[in-house]
Amino acid sequence: MALFTAFGAGKVVLLGEHAVVYGRPAIAGPLTLGVTARAVPSARCQLEVPAGLSTTGRELLGRAFEQAAKACGRPKVRVRLEAHLPVSMGLGSSAALAVACARVLLAASGRAPETPSVVALAREMEEVFHRTPSGVDHTCSAMGTLIYYSKRPAARAGIAERLVCPKPLKLLVALAGKRRPTGETVAQFRERLKRWPGRYGRLLQEVGRLAREGKQAILRGDLEALGNAMTVNHGLLVALGLSSVSIDSLVHRLLGRGALGAKLTGAGGEGGAVIGLFLEPEPVVARLSREGVVCFASQLAGPLAL
Ligand code: PMV
Repeated sequence: MALFTAFGAGKVVLLGEHAVVYGRPAIAGPLTLGVTARAVPSARCQLEVPAGLSTTGRELLGRAFEQAAKACGRPKVRVRLEAHLPVSMGLGSSAALAVACARVLLAASGRAPETPSVVALAREMEEVFHRTPSGVDHTCSAMGTLIYYSKRPAARAGIAERLVCPKPLKLLVALAGKRRPTGETVAQFRERLKRWPGRYGRLLQEVGRLAREGKQAILRGDLEALGNAMTVNHGLLVALGLSSVSIDSLVHRLLGRGALGAKLTGAGGEGGAVIGLFLEPEPVVARLSREGVVCFASQLAGPLAL
């Protein structure tokens, strides 16, 4: 019998990944899928490490949990995790896990799991997973709503604004295959940016501008303008060297099936996830699934926002 149970939502970045690491704004929304953490009484504070993780994955997860446990005074609970979303695919699984853990650890230590405390504790874990996260993933997961987010590169915490769209935002999420960890893709991109700061800087600036235009489109409920900003953002991610053949072919496939916009989401690289904005994604999910594409539909709202 669980003493405390908490959920952390997975997320998608609608506009602005990578540029957000360099202080530009980004828009992210929570998925209905995520990670659940359950805490039961125990002699000491510990994590049941899920089966099937690599040695590096186990080690990272252990260190991240230890960091959060220490910050909460090591409440006497054993925490078990259940993931309901694809892991290491750019859908914010590590942030969802960090938020779920933060919520149960705070509750077990007698502190109210309020959003600012959850964001701060989840950040401790995300810094172990991703070295220099912008924070957009765990902030979106903890707030459980669509956000417009930015963080000055030197700052530790970012600023998030809730966005309310007058129309439902429905996505098709498709998986383009395995990819390397976010930290590696971010580090490789940082090297390219150092080498060609002018060229890459101009593109990052343009990505930030698309996020600002996307925000206005969301507030107006203009899904066509939002979709177009997403597709143009994908083009910039291609130019920045963050896409691949498998990602691009899925983007074109979604556009060919009537998506209002489509792009990679998350760190990208050789695989990961692609999103398409649709008025009705379900029939396209059914069709693509029959054709062998791993995909699902999600309204952009975690359980807290439903
Ligand atoms: O970890 P992912 O694939 O969900 O990507 C996170 C988004 C990045 O902008 C690439 C990194 C960051 O810290 O914001």
